[in-house]
Amino acid sequence: MPSTLLWASIAGLMALLPAARAGFNPNSDENLSVYWGQNSYGQLGWPNGQQRLSYYCETSPSINIIPLAFLNGIETPILNLANAINNCTAIAGTQLFSCPQVEADIQECQSKGVTILMSLGGSTYTEGGFSSSSAAVAAAQNVWAMFGPVQSGSSAPRPFGTAVVNGFDFDFESSVQNMEPFAAELRTLMDAAGGTYYLSAAPQCPYPDQSDESFIDGEVDFDWVQVQFYNNFCGVDNFNNPNAWDFSTWDTWANSVSLNRNAKVLLGIAANTGAANAGSYVDGSLLASAIASSKSYASFGGVMMWDMSQLYANSGFEAEVLSDMGAPASGSGSTSTSTSTTTTAPQTTLTTITTSASPTTTSTSGTVPQWGQCGGEGYTGSTQCQSPYTCVETSIWWSQCE
Ligand SMILES: *[C@@H]1O[C@H](CO)[C@@H](O)[C@H](O)[C@H]1NC(C)=O
Ligand SMILES: *[C@@H]1O[C@H](CO)[C@@H](O)[C@H](O)[C@H]1NC(C)=O
Repeated sequence: MPSTLLWASIAGLMALLPAARAGFNPNSDENLSVYWGQNSYGQLGWPNGQQRLSYYCETSPSINIIPLAFLNGIETPILNLANAINNCTAIAGTQLFSCPQVEADIQECQSKGVTILMSLGGSTYTEGGFSSSSAAVAAAQNVWAMFGPVQSGSSAPRPFGTAVVNGFDFDFESSVQNMEPFAAELRTLMDAAGGTYYLSAAPQCPYPDQSDESFIDGEVDFDWVQVQFYNNFCGVDNFNNPNAWDFSTWDTWANSVSLNRNAKVLLGIAANTGAANAGSYVDGSLLASAIASSKSYASFGGVMMWDMSQLYANSGFEAEVLSDMGAPASGSGSTSTSTSTTTTAPQTTLTTITTSASPTTTSTSGTVPQWGQCGGEGYTGSTQCQSPYTCVETSIWWSQCE
């Protein structure tokens, strides 16, 4: 949408709902991370198709982290930016593209203070990690040569030319081997380069996350996790179910498992009704409560959203989330801020919290409607889909009728 409309709608909301919006602070210092690159809303062109990257940095100054989604293959690098790839040219002999427009846009966004990460993986990543630790290290060196500082004499293809990303996001949703040596090597290269580079991960909310556990278990310094509190029984939609919602497991990760005891936890949410499985999108007072409660934990670092196209098609939602983030915390949370740093010996023995949550919307005897949950670890509701739908597994935590 044009920025004038966006701001007009924010102003309109504030005028209509003065009490609810009183906490809105356009200069909020909480982080807002929004994925760009997959055009999840699924339209092309104006106004709801995914626009070029710079458009968002110019119109949403509060979004201060943008992970580019995705590098779908790593050992064999595959760049996928949905419709934004149409403005790129293929790099012969690779599954990569040269994207001068993204190069310019990354640099423009960075000049506005936005942190740009290359997000690795995504749900269609199929390499399963690396066959060996040495293959993982070699892949990390290649990824760094492609997206890190320009290395003289390197022949690595550079999709974004001279632009240098601020770090990498790990979004793995299937089992991966040897991802830890890959992450460790990237961290080593980043630290040796000087400047500030970040590593983030995007686990799903059940703790520990089956796909990401192997590399966020305290051996590698991650700066934050942006946890997917959607598509899972533990998502924001189940905030009122104490057997399902549990931000504290991730707070505990931050202050007693993570190598970096100052690591942050961002609350990952769907940016629109169609951005995640049915029911996963939450707004209004339920979202405000979930954010206020998360905020009571010392590790809370802000909100992550999937994805940019969905957010921009959901007029007023960014302002609502900023308002929620600016409102006071509520709940017990963890009050102590950890003072220990990365020198603390990692603990890898955090007690696993086993949940036995079942959504309140389905009963064991009934049948589940289209898009409803019909299975997944910890799920105890009905597994029978209404005709003609069948139960399809989308992760070990979630199966749905489709
Ligand atoms: C998160 O927000 C804080 C406060 O505004 C800021 O200092 C920090 O740089 C942000 N982090 C990133 C990765 O942008
Ligand atoms: C592609 O390039 C055109 C022409 O510069 C631009 O108007 C459009 O926004 C770009 N689209 C995407 C998705 O990057």
